[in-house]
Amino acid sequence: MKETTTAIILAAGQGTRMKSALPKVMHRVSGLPIVHYPVQAALDAGCAEVVVVVGHGRDVVVDYLSRTFGDRVKTAVQVEQKGSGDAARAGMVAVGAQARHVLLVSGDVPLVGGDDLRVVFAPLERAGGPSLVVATCVAADPAGYGRILRKDGRVVAIREHRDLQGDGERAVREINAGIYAAGAALLRDALAALAPNNAQGELYLTDIIAFAAARGRAVDTVQLGEDVLAGVNDREQLAQVDRTMQARILRRWRTAGATIRHGARVEAGVTLEPDATIEGGAVLRGATHVRRGAVVDVGCVLTDVDVGEDALVRPYTVAASSRIGARAQVGPFAHLRSDSDLGEEAHIGNFVETKKTRLGKGAKANHLAYLGDGVVGAGANVGAGTIFCNYDGFRKHTTTIGEGAFIGSDSQLVAPVTVGAGAYVATGTTVTQDVPADALAIGRTRQVNKEGYASRLKAQLKAHGKEKESEGSKK
Ligand code: UD1
Ligand code: CA
Repeated sequence: MKETTTAIILAAGQGTRMKSALPKVMHRVSGLPIVHYPVQAALDAGCAEVVVVVGHGRDVVVDYLSRTFGDRVKTAVQVEQKGSGDAARAGMVAVGAQARHVLLVSGDVPLVGGDDLRVVFAPLERAGGPSLVVATCVAADPAGYGRILRKDGRVVAIREHRDLQGDGERAVREINAGIYAAGAALLRDALAALAPNNAQGELYLTDIIAFAAARGRAVDTVQLGEDVLAGVNDREQLAQVDRTMQARILRRWRTAGATIRHGARVEAGVTLEPDATIEGGAVLRGATHVRRGAVVDVGCVLTDVDVGEDALVRPYTVAASSRIGARAQVGPFAHLRSDSDLGEEAHIGNFVETKKTRLGKGAKANHLAYLGDGVVGAGANVGAGTIFCNYDGFRKHTTTIGEGAFIGSDSQLVAPVTVGAGAYVATGTTVTQDVPADALAIGRTRQVNKEGYASRLKAQLKAHGKEKESEGSKK
């Protein structure tokens, strides 16, 4: 039956209370824009069609949705933000004729999952089921929410907080979660009848309840948890929802066998294998994947990084769009920039920066180096202070180091340049020409020792210093 259910996600509002230049639904919760979650939930629930109503700041929203969901999601434009009912009208225009049921979901409730949405529209699919279903919850503090008004137990209307009449209505703690399911035909009629008879002069989607009830159509409620229904209207709620989302994500990966210490942050797109260990203060972002037995130590920030089995990423490593091979070791204080690809058992030590560089199995650069646009063969050793001079001010060039080669400390490799397999570059060499395999390259001036010169030099310098001092005091 879900083939005939369309979801409409209402995401056109500005979100005034966010006080932001960014549309509210593009603010991030655990790394993903708020709007991502209801869209994903609707897809997970099995809705055949998902329409997102966009309006305020719609270019960024549409751009994100099309990049992320492609043609699985349609958008409809609400030109002026005249209320949630007007947004639903705009969404209905894009709903296909095949849709028998429509699920309406606020774009600002990121904690609602596919299972929750299924619970909301399931009653409609039952023979003799209701015509309209509203998700509700009993809130400890109902302030700001629309209240469910009942007569003889039956739902008759939803009243917005600002429009409440009398203490009786104010005392109602059963609130409207902003998620509804209805027959498409009924919804079309109800939306057509909306009028701006309220404190804000808007078209309220909530008025569809009174419309249905007044025509004797059965309106059901399904109760969802207050934590699931939390909406984002301001930055404080954004922080709360983010905290709840983090707790969920961490619980999920802990249940799956990963150890995650307190204070680590794991964003929504990350995957962890059993026996991965994430220490406190580590931040895992994007599509980072940490494999079995790997350790991501304190304070690391990894964005779109594949961490191989049993790899060790030591404290305060920063890495992005890179791969760390099995049993490799990185850091502390290493910086892997985009397209770094470390082979098995490779070592990258402290204050080493890599970019678009591939290290073969067991290759090492343990201290203070810049490896940009490089290919380093298996077992090669790059000494402290080595620089791959990859940029001539216009173009980037490649440094290629053969298997088992040894690059002495404080060498510069001026790319494009190749050091052959097993070759040896002496410390302090500026390599400007290719080095053949098994050769020694040495490019530095010979050292001269002048016996007894140091004390004479010091005496001279001291005398010179005194002269300058007395000149100064004469002035
Ligand atoms: C709404 C409900 C309220 C409910 C609460 C639950 C209405 C009138 N009120 O209030 O009963 O308790 O959600 O969270 O619906 N939107 C548009 N275009 C507009 C206006 C809003 O697309 O012109 C979208 C917003 O982007 C948002 C959703 O509709 O995703 C709800 O709007 P919002 O202003 O957040 O309504 P609330 O005051 O939270
Ligand atoms: Ca809201």
